[in-house]
Parts: sequence; C-alpha cells; structure tokens
Amino acid sequence: MASGSQPLPMTASRHGALAGAAAIPGDKSISHRSILFGGIASGTTRVTGLLEGEDVLNSVKASRALGAAIRKEGASWIIEGTGNGLLLEPGEPIDFGNSGTGCRLYMGLAGAYDFETTFLGDASLSKRPMGRVVDPLKLMGVQVLDSREGCRLPITLRGPRVAAPVEYAVPVPSAQVKSAVLLAGLNAPGITTVIEKVMTRDHTERMLAGFGAHLEVETAGDGTRTIRLEGQGRLSGTDIQVPADPSSAAFPIVAALIVPDSDITLANILMNPARTGLITTLIEMGGRIDILNERESGGEAIADLRVRSSDLKGVSVPGARAASMIDEYPVLSVAAAFAEGETLMEEVGELRVKESDRLAAVAAGLKANGVACEEGGDWLRVTGTPGGRGLGGAGSGDIPPVATHLDHRIAMSFLVMGMASERPVMIDDVSPIATSFPQFVPLMRELGAELG
Ligand code: S3P
Repeated sequence: MASGSQPLPMTASRHGALAGAAAIPGDKSISHRSILFGGIASGTTRVTGLLEGEDVLNSVKASRALGAAIRKEGASWIIEGTGNGLLLEPGEPIDFGNSGTGCRLYMGLAGAYDFETTFLGDASLSKRPMGRVVDPLKLMGVQVLDSREGCRLPITLRGPRVAAPVEYAVPVPSAQVKSAVLLAGLNAPGITTVIEKVMTRDHTERMLAGFGAHLEVETAGDGTRTIRLEGQGRLSGTDIQVPADPSSAAFPIVAALIVPDSDITLANILMNPARTGLITTLIEMGGRIDILNERESGGEAIADLRVRSSDLKGVSVPGARAASMIDEYPVLSVAAAFAEGETLMEEVGELRVKESDRLAAVAAGLKANGVACEEGGDWLRVTGTPGGRGLGGAGSGDIPPVATHLDHRIAMSFLVMGMASERPVMIDDVSPIATSFPQFVPLMRELGAELG
C-alpha cells in the first residue's frame, strides 16, 4: 500500500462459474533478480514480461540509486548496468516498501561495498527479522551502523574495504538468505560457499550463470546443496523473458477448483520444481489441473494449466514440501476449507515471519468465516465443508472484515474464499495486492468473479 493511503475494503460474493483464459503477470522472484542483475552487469539487459507491481518497482528504484540506468521501451525494460564491483554509493536511504525479497537481496548486493546504505520499509517490513541476512554479512566484514531493536529496519550497513568470502550454511530454508550471501560474494575476492540442507527456489543460481558468473552447484545424496561462487568476476547483460508467476496463478487456480462448474486456462506458468508444491498438493487433493504444453523458456520450465472445479479431499502436506510452496499456504488453506475432511500443514513456522504472521492471520480469517481450524506453533489444521455451506460472513452483522495486516496474499486468499462460500467475505484492505498482482481484481472479474 502506498504509505499514507486509506485502507480500501472489498467484498467477494458467490456468483456463476469462472471461465476463460487469463494472463498471469511475471514471476516476482525472477523480476526482482532481473532488475538487480541487470543493474550490476556490464552492458545492456532487456527484460520482457517484468512484473510491474510495487515490490519490483521498488527494486527498480534501488538499482537506479546504486548507479544503473533503467528505462522502459514499449513492453521491455532496458537496463544499463554499472559492471560488477562498480555500484555507486546511494545518495539517500532506499525504501523497499513491503518487499522482504527486495530488501534482503539488495542488503547482500550493496551491503558488502565500502560505503553506507540505509534500508527502509513499510510498517510490515519494519517488523520482519533482518538478522538472518545481516549475520552472514557480518562474517564477511559488514558493519551494522544503525538498526532498530532485534535487527529490524531502518538499518544502515557499511561494507569493509575488501569483503571476506565465507562458507555459510543457511540455518533456515530461505532463498532470500542464500541469495544475499551469494550477492555479497560477488564483491568478495575468492570463493563464497553457501550450503542449504533443503532446496529453496534457485533463481539466483540460474541467473548468476545466465549473466556469466562462475558458479558450481553440487547436490549430495541427502539433497544438501553446496553452491560455490567465484567473486569479482564479470557479469554481462543479457535478454530475459520473465515467465508467469505460479504464486500469483495460485489464486485463480484455487478459485476455479472451488467455484462450481469453472473451467479456466492460464498460459506460460513457471514450473520450476522449487515452486510447484501447491500444484502437487492440489492434484493430490483431487484437483483437476491439466499441465499442458510443457516446455522451456529462458532456462526455466514453463507450461499452460487448465483448471476445472473439483471435489477436493483433505491431505497431509509434508514439511519437506514447504519450501516449494511457502507463499501458497494461505490460499491452500482456503482450498482446504472447501475440501472433504482435514488438511494438515506441517513444519510451516516460517509463515510467522512473512508479510504478516500468516499462520495467525489465516487461522483468524478462517474462523471469522465459520471454518473449523486449529493452529499450532508451526502447523495448521483445517476441516473443510464441501460446497462451502454456512461459510463466509466476515464483514457482515457484528463480524469484522478479515484483517489483512498489509499482506497481499492474505487479501487475495480471502477474496478467493468469498467467491465460493455461501455468504460473502469482506476484507479490510485490498490495496496491498498491488505489491505483487496489481491486475488481480480486473483479471478475476474478467473470469467471472463478483468483487465489489
Ligand atoms: C523469495 C523467497 C521466499 C518467498 C518470497 C520470495 C525469493 O522467502 O517467501 O516471497 O524471491 O527469494 P524466504 O527466503 O524468506 O523463504
């Protein structure tokens, strides 16, 4: 939400079937990285399909503040980068708005430079833990000149004259932490090594290779990945076509599964296996999702998806799958509310430190809409009501609207719920959706949803 703007409530109501084809915007993770790598590479990078949501536009501002020239020409974003090792000291604090990914990636990128960078964010981002990124950066010689208690934003970092390459085992499964260390390693002489026990999204590794960095990835028998990056190498501008975001597609996918008689098609969806945990889970639940025209584009797997309404059944989602669907648990919980029986989501404690405490926000929203659910420290159990009979009602009578806590995915999840529940569902604020999926409301209306 643009700072200072008023919350904007919205209500979703049951209407007819959802039908037709929808163009899902570009993947957020790949969009951030396209701008970031383009901004530090030598020469020109051309990006098409960039997600033009608030989070990514804040990364555009950050790269500009660090010396990149970025312009839009027709549907393409053209970036003239500084060259690796040649970022400029920003003249003022950099504001990342709501974006944890933007903030943490640029902390790694700029933090290891011998200059000061101050990182700012909105009320949600200012509550989120930054120690997970700052701790490894300190091992590389980065100083924290200023921060709020508990290593929260605003934070000012200053890098050493020469950053030290490190070997770092990431303590929580986090692509942001992994990426921050690798990005700092770009400005350190020698080899920076990152070890992750659980594979997280690997867009940073893929794009580093695509921009010409020397890196090696080794996967052990137990799945542990060791990533070695040679620092201070040359990165060269390249052309990038951003595939459609599976984490955004998740909302119309679940909507089509739970709204009776729906049949929708979504093209060019990113199918990187580190991102497809939700699709696997929904198919296990009995979801009719056809994966069509599987192909490759720009080094990533993509496919078209046809989704039809389905009779869903509750399942147990193993903790081992969490990293591949970490952003999709709120909308999976909504699917679970319409499934027969119980759905158990295990080892999902990371949800407590996202744009909001998503375990608490989902449980509160489900309960307000009549769904039986139970929340543990790192798990959630939802008991479904096929057909959505008796569900909904937040925002009517004396039930307050669903509290979205500046969290785009909580907002979209509960609007999806209102499309299929017996009674409408009101959320307290639709504006955070602009951070990741600005087209959500018109796109869902185009498919037949009633949002007012
Ligand atoms: C992201 C990593 C994930 C995810 C976020 C995007 C990325 O965060 O939740 O939306 O692009 O690297 P964590 O690294 O905190 O798991």
